[in-house]
Amino acid sequence: MKNKKIETKIIHGDKLYPYTGPVVFPIYQTSNFRFKNSTIATRYAQGDESVYVYSRMHNPTVNQLEQKFSEIYCKKAILFCSGMAAISTTIFALCKSNEEILTIPNLYGGTYHYFNEVLPNFNINIKTFDPNSLEDLFYLITPQTRIIYFETPTNPTLGIVDIQKLVKITRKLETEYKTSIFVILDNTFATIINQNPFKFGVDIVIESTTKYLGGHSDLLGGLVVSSNNIIKKIKNLRKYTGSIMEPFTSYLLDRSLKTFLLRVKQQNQNAFALAKTLEKHKNIRRVLYPGLKSHPHHKLARKQMSDFGGMLTIEVVGGLKNAIRFCDNLKVAVNAMSLGGAETTVSIPVLSSHIGLTKSELAQQGVTEGMVRISTGIENKDDLIQDFYQSLNKLK
Ligand SMILES: Cc1ncc(COP(=O)(O)O)c(C=O)c1O
Repeated sequence: MKNKKIETKIIHGDKLYPYTGPVVFPIYQTSNFRFKNSTIATRYAQGDESVYVYSRMHNPTVNQLEQKFSEIYCKKAILFCSGMAAISTTIFALCKSNEEILTIPNLYGGTYHYFNEVLPNFNINIKTFDPNSLEDLFYLITPQTRIIYFETPTNPTLGIVDIQKLVKITRKLETEYKTSIFVILDNTFATIINQNPFKFGVDIVIESTTKYLGGHSDLLGGLVVSSNNIIKKIKNLRKYTGSIMEPFTSYLLDRSLKTFLLRVKQQNQNAFALAKTLEKHKNIRRVLYPGLKSHPHHKLARKQMSDFGGMLTIEVVGGLKNAIRFCDNLKVAVNAMSLGGAETTVSIPVLSSHIGLTKSELAQQGVTEGMVRISTGIENKDDLIQDFYQSLNKLK
């Protein structure tokens, strides 16, 4: 069947396996694969990718899920053992020493540290640009620029970066300098359900499948989606970094995928309801949620997102002391760092994702001590509102 919709694709993929086979794709829990005869081994030696040899290269369970993601994105997809493995392998596959990466200051902490502490050791230069002033790219991009890497919505202020504008400026300079620049977007916060970056010309989409795609806080994984040529390069390096997803994790992720859309829709609704209600509470200074009219980038969010996601950030009165008190008095929401699970989680950026940043770095990113980041789960929305209210009411 042609033109299947995403609701169908996340369940059935491209129907790889035989109609007489199991409904659920089996877990090939094996490192090694037997060759029927040496003709098969020869086919592999000659580059036939359909021959399974060793699970660090590929594995049927992982492969069927990669095919499913390829169907969903209408591009080529590969899987990794974590989001960071996906990010680091992609960067090392595409960027050489003496080249540079342009990025935004408010990246996910792991990526920020990898960029600023690891890549300079390989002579890869990191330069930052202000996502609210994309015109700066006209003088920041140079012939050495190989990658533009960003996130939108950003963590934890839920700022929105204009994807289309960023891509347009990049393409202009790429033509001028006759170079190739890869535009990479970490789409973990929004997911494909709320934002399809390929619509705006992005080259590579990365997601930590640990978050919304996994959705049950019980697996680690990463996804990279791009053109055949780009994926070929990244996949080749994945063999040597040994960073492929595990077969059992692929099974778990495929299981999660079946309810992905339902979960994300519910998370979107719960986040919107919470954001609207919390804005009215006297102990809240600010609610940052792209779906609110009060959000500084609301118009842009409407333009490039189909819905506004499950992440929001509140700023309570009284700074860090009250942020801690608020988190500790919650009865339903869980105080935990990760996001995208079925359960609502809260975390304080200055004690988690933004730990160790100087006062001026925090100010540059708009992060304050009273901020609490919320990843909305799929619980009953009234229970969540009641829980947040009872805890906010205890603040002095
Ligand atoms: C936006 C974003 N990207 C990437 C990652 C890294 O993913 P992982 O923890 O699966 O390595 C995270 C983890 O929190 C994240 O929030």
